[in-house]
Amino acid sequence: MVSIRFLGHSAFSIEGKGLRALIDPFISGSGVAPVGVSEFKDRNYIFVTHGHGDHIGDTVEIARASGATVVTNVEVCHYLAARGAKCHRMQVGGVYTFPFGKVRMTPAWHGSGIVEGDRMICGGTPGGFVIEVEGRKLYHAGDTGLTMEMKLLEEEDIDVAMLPIGGNFTMDVDDAVRAVGFIRPRIVVPMHYGTFDVIQADPEEFAAKVPETTEVRILDIGDSTEI
Ligand code: NI
Ligand code: MN
Repeated sequence: MVSIRFLGHSAFSIEGKGLRALIDPFISGSGVAPVGVSEFKDRNYIFVTHGHGDHIGDTVEIARASGATVVTNVEVCHYLAARGAKCHRMQVGGVYTFPFGKVRMTPAWHGSGIVEGDRMICGGTPGGFVIEVEGRKLYHAGDTGLTMEMKLLEEEDIDVAMLPIGGNFTMDVDDAVRAVGFIRPRIVVPMHYGTFDVIQADPEEFAAKVPETTEVRILDIGDSTEI
């Protein structure tokens, strides 16, 4: 059984056989996370979709405290490794088999620059992940607009897709509904909404618009679900 816990924004904890992961651990700065970073000393993997602060979040601190391997693009790895995180470098389109299962890095239409003071550090190409564990396939889209590449994921038989619905920086509700039509996941979990003024969206509206062939699970912050 694979358990998925929503930590607010785009942050999730994923636990399955051999995997105690975080995705985009924006925790101390989000103002909405139900737990502190000290909760995650047992992590063995952290997936980071791109270099923006609301996705890198507390990656360095958690990676250093736990010894977790950070999986992200080459450029964000370069930045994080210089700050003491152990990293596994991937790039969009790449697939690698980890001890717990296979991971594919998927494309995202977005940016990935890392802001430090008034500097912008190159964060490479943004992405998402298809993570396989216990025979289940989880897709975390990262921050992205609607892309035709999502259509390719239909062949992957995705069990659960975590999709942004907040608009402005990413897909809004209607585009996320179209993404569900492309991907045809068994379950969809909306994310990246409500945290900032410009990404207000109603997950119930999303749930009402998604076709019945996909189950919508709206997770309250702190809630877990199992697949
Ligand atoms: Ni972003
Ligand atoms: Mn974001």
